[in-house]
Amino acid sequence: MQLVSTPVSGLNGHADIPGDKSISHRSLIFGAIAKGTTRVSGLLTGEDVLSTAAALRQMGVKLEVDEAQKTAVIEGVGLNGLQEPKASLDMGNSGTSARLMMGLVAGQNITARFIGDESLSKRPMKRISEPLSLMGAHLTSEAGDKMTLPMTVHGGNELKPIKYELPMPSAQVKSCLILAGLPLAGQTHIIEPVPTRDHSENMLRAFGADIRVEGTDIYLTGGTALKAQDIIVPGDPSSAAFMTVAALITKGSDIMLENIGLSDRRAGLYETLVEMGADITFNNRRKVAGEPVADLRVRHSRLKGITVPPDRAPSMIDEYPVLFVAAAFADGQTDMQGLHELTVKESNRLTVMADGLRACGADLTEGADFLIINGDGTAPMGGVQNIQTHHDHRIAMSFLVMGCGAQKPIGVADAGPIQTSFPNFISEMTKLGAQLA
Ligand code: S3P
Repeated sequence: MQLVSTPVSGLNGHADIPGDKSISHRSLIFGAIAKGTTRVSGLLTGEDVLSTAAALRQMGVKLEVDEAQKTAVIEGVGLNGLQEPKASLDMGNSGTSARLMMGLVAGQNITARFIGDESLSKRPMKRISEPLSLMGAHLTSEAGDKMTLPMTVHGGNELKPIKYELPMPSAQVKSCLILAGLPLAGQTHIIEPVPTRDHSENMLRAFGADIRVEGTDIYLTGGTALKAQDIIVPGDPSSAAFMTVAALITKGSDIMLENIGLSDRRAGLYETLVEMGADITFNNRRKVAGEPVADLRVRHSRLKGITVPPDRAPSMIDEYPVLFVAAAFADGQTDMQGLHELTVKESNRLTVMADGLRACGADLTEGADFLIINGDGTAPMGGVQNIQTHHDHRIAMSFLVMGCGAQKPIGVADAGPIQTSFPNFISEMTKLGAQLA
């Protein structure tokens, strides 16, 4: 589905931001292996989360999702209660589903084959197969040593907890190992190179797991039954990022985004935009289900280029594509380093964004793990109708956002992937005044 965003004279009003994707996946998975009935509200019902739900059902979990109400009810089967699926588990486009569910299956006495779409089938899975193998699970890939999907996970009772130092900052890998360790007696000890999103740790503690965090060390003693919970999912800061940048770069804009999760492990983009001079106010700061949230008011702003500290990358890893867009409108140089993990997302986001921005008239220098964008404070030209999105929702949304504030329309060749994380993106952008056709 091709979609073109035509420049507008302002975005105004409220937009509804869907539930947090990371927390939505985890609500379903943890609910599935708890005892009792877990009820979730504010659930993201995008395709990625529905892939997780379908896979859990294939393993015998009674799980109902009401897409209109954005709720789920899950009858947990307990820590060891999953059944072997009769067919392959299709993870679609979702790296989070694939990596978390492979960890989950590894800890069970079952075997499951995992498949995914063209994008997911290129993404690296060695990062989970190596530590899971150290625990005693057996993983095979139909792509051989490349270790990409399709893959089969032979889980088992013979698994042993391990101490493992993560070679890369990845909440998916961390959560995969936590899930594999949950049913095992003994201590799983994971060490992160830098702190990444800690939703698994926080949520599992609420579910009654014996999990302790000391700095970048996570200690999990498995075997403790999880107790079902009622979960309220806050709005996704990674989705709100698109509306935020759209308002900042489009003259005459003034928008409100309510109930946005602002965990310090996720809020790096907002900190960065404020340093760039963004006019964002964080109102009504409060906690929802243990997560800090706020209502955001965002107004068009004259942004200035800055150096983004590389150690902030894990707290804004999904937000770089749209930060690149903001930087293209800023006055001066925005220097972003330490971006290697961006190259192994749904697409190589560093290269795909750099190519598209260049085509839209931005002045930039791209390296293996950095991007430097030189803006002069005026809107880039745009006028490109067919930017390839490479099955990547965040590439599609970034360029549609850019089209709102650019001098000429910007279009993407395929807006379909937006359904994975932000099903109401087009209607909410239109409600604010964007012209998407
Ligand atoms: C996620 C972790 C991040 C992020 C992804 C969601 C999660 O991936 O990019 O969108 O829910 O744990 P990595 O762990 O690969 O950095």
